[in-house]
Amino acid sequence: MRDQQTRNIFRTSKLEEADGPGLNPTASRTMGEIIAARFSRRGFLKGSMAVTAISATVSPMALLSATDAQAAPASAFNFPEVTAGVDADHHVAEGYDADVLLRWGDKVFADAPDFDPLNQSEAAQERQFGYNNDFVGFIPLDGADDRGLLVVNHEYTNEHLMFPGIVTIKDGEIEVSEADEARVNIEMAAHGGTIIEIRKVDGKWQPVLDGALNRRITAKTPMELTGPAAGHARLQTVADPTGRAVLGTINNCAGGVTPWGTYIMAEENIHGYFTGTLPEGHAEAANYERLGIPDSTYAWGRFHDRFDVSKDPNEANRFGWIVEVDVMDPNSTPKKRTALGRFKHEGAESVVAKDGRVVFYLGDDERFDYVYKFVTAGKYNPEDRAANMDLLDEGTLYVARFDEGGRVEWLPLVQGEGPLTAANGFATQADVLIETRRAADLLEATPMDRPEDIQPNPLTGRAYVMLTNNTKREEANAANPRVDNAFGHIIEIIEQDGDFTATSGTWEILVKCGDPSIAEVGATFSTETTVDGWFGMPDNAAVDAEGRLWVSTDGNSMADTGRTDGLWALDTEGAARGTSRLFYRVPVGAELCGPCITEDMTTFFVAVQHPGDGGEDWEGHGRPSYYEDLSTRWPDFDDAMPVRPAVVAITRQGGGRIG
Ligand code: FEO
Ligand code: CA
Ligand code: CA
Repeated sequence: MRDQQTRNIFRTSKLEEADGPGLNPTASRTMGEIIAARFSRRGFLKGSMAVTAISATVSPMALLSATDAQAAPASAFNFPEVTAGVDADHHVAEGYDADVLLRWGDKVFADAPDFDPLNQSEAAQERQFGYNNDFVGFIPLDGADDRGLLVVNHEYTNEHLMFPGIVTIKDGEIEVSEADEARVNIEMAAHGGTIIEIRKVDGKWQPVLDGALNRRITAKTPMELTGPAAGHARLQTVADPTGRAVLGTINNCAGGVTPWGTYIMAEENIHGYFTGTLPEGHAEAANYERLGIPDSTYAWGRFHDRFDVSKDPNEANRFGWIVEVDVMDPNSTPKKRTALGRFKHEGAESVVAKDGRVVFYLGDDERFDYVYKFVTAGKYNPEDRAANMDLLDEGTLYVARFDEGGRVEWLPLVQGEGPLTAANGFATQADVLIETRRAADLLEATPMDRPEDIQPNPLTGRAYVMLTNNTKREEANAANPRVDNAFGHIIEIIEQDGDFTATSGTWEILVKCGDPSIAEVGATFSTETTVDGWFGMPDNAAVDAEGRLWVSTDGNSMADTGRTDGLWALDTEGAARGTSRLFYRVPVGAELCGPCITEDMTTFFVAVQHPGDGGEDWEGHGRPSYYEDLSTRWPDFDDAMPVRPAVVAITRQGGGRIG
């Protein structure tokens, strides 16, 4: 979810940024003018390079032309680089096809209604592909390379792009009319996730609409809270006195696929769905404040009491968890695994450690929040799927402290240890898990520049942390080395002895992002990186079967970087380390999520999220973008169709390995 989106739809919100204002009270302006001067075609703020808080940390790098760089021998990648830029379409490297596989509104079941944007309904949306695809995972069926389940998160909804007739432009800004109950219920059905069988026919992927395992999960799907906090009084609500039965999942950003083939949906920016005011002196006040709850971005609480904290104050404690779905049973009850803590979960990528325990890396996406990992108590049994199904209910949650000397310590969040005592409000482990952030504050974890996806590399014992940006940082530290960090960076964690369960390790900064040719930015891509190859705002990542790192981004735009978001190949080894190349880029206004490369490396599934959300700064549109006046109508380019978020399958022409 990006900042731009916030400005459009969070029109009455106190929040100015989608991912929260930076709510960590224990943690301690602007690059924007420099960048605007460089990239804005409107020329606003031109010449305002005299920004004081920026210090030049590196010399401006003379960027190579694409032709020169392709001659560089050391890279693990080999493809003709895409030219960076902004336009209405998506673009993939020459020699590859980027085929739209599933769009918002597409049928998920054979008997689903056709998409009719002018006559949307909750019932139709519940049978159709949801909005704003984020995480994408592929789970092969029967070990086949050409048949499997695609699992896709639907993170949030952009009302101004989805619904006709609800926008007015006031002082050049989008204003969206107050939602009615029908619109709220469509939005709730457009959230959640999709599980759908896909099959490769003649080299092209297609959905199998009569797949027996196809399923839509929404903000109303019955779920179960499990693990140490399940049933706790703080999870009991007016509607559910058991504290175990909850309806739906929301703001599912990234996620994961476990080694045993379940689908993980991470609940991220949950604060915007809650409205109302907590009763005076309520016990959850500090807890909710730490998460920015309620934020009243959406109108759900006006029609569903559970989203109004004045009416059902504990409901918000039942969101912000990691959700696990057994995709092999379309009637299974998804489980909210409380052992993995409650915060703004970006994702949960996992790896089997040497001793068979499974390690999940977890980012808390907010300015000045933390990096976590969870180590299961039990071991993964590759021979017995059923034996793994509750591994996520028992284990240890750790939070990272990145020391100045280049060490990382993983600090266990265990009730009764250190400051996590009843005196500090942590009477049980349930309290630690419900208020994970506050527990991590007391352990003096390192406040980071918005931790997003964290991708382990099973071949090397390392993990890559995407830190997307933090323009509110005023004090640098070793692991977050730039104040006013507009473009983010990537940290490489080197676990002790390559053991993912290790409680300490070392770390290095793989790359500081942004335009290396602007000294003030202080970017550190390798000198082999081309004018097209650098990027800002890393968000999601994938490691392919050969251990190569791919990074997708959220936040690049004409004004910020002179380019859209996309998918970049980033060398991590040898002389080419830090070399980045652009493989695929999205249409104007979109971010790129979910990069998922199949085990055989012949298909890259990517999620184009919120296309058309923006374009004021792009000469091809130059004004606000909304249903009636869109900056792009990707992917259909049909005047009768709005712009649609979609999952794209990238394959090599004639077949073969990618990159
Ligand atoms: Fe939903 Fe952290 O991006
Ligand atoms: Ca993001
Ligand atoms: Ca994300």
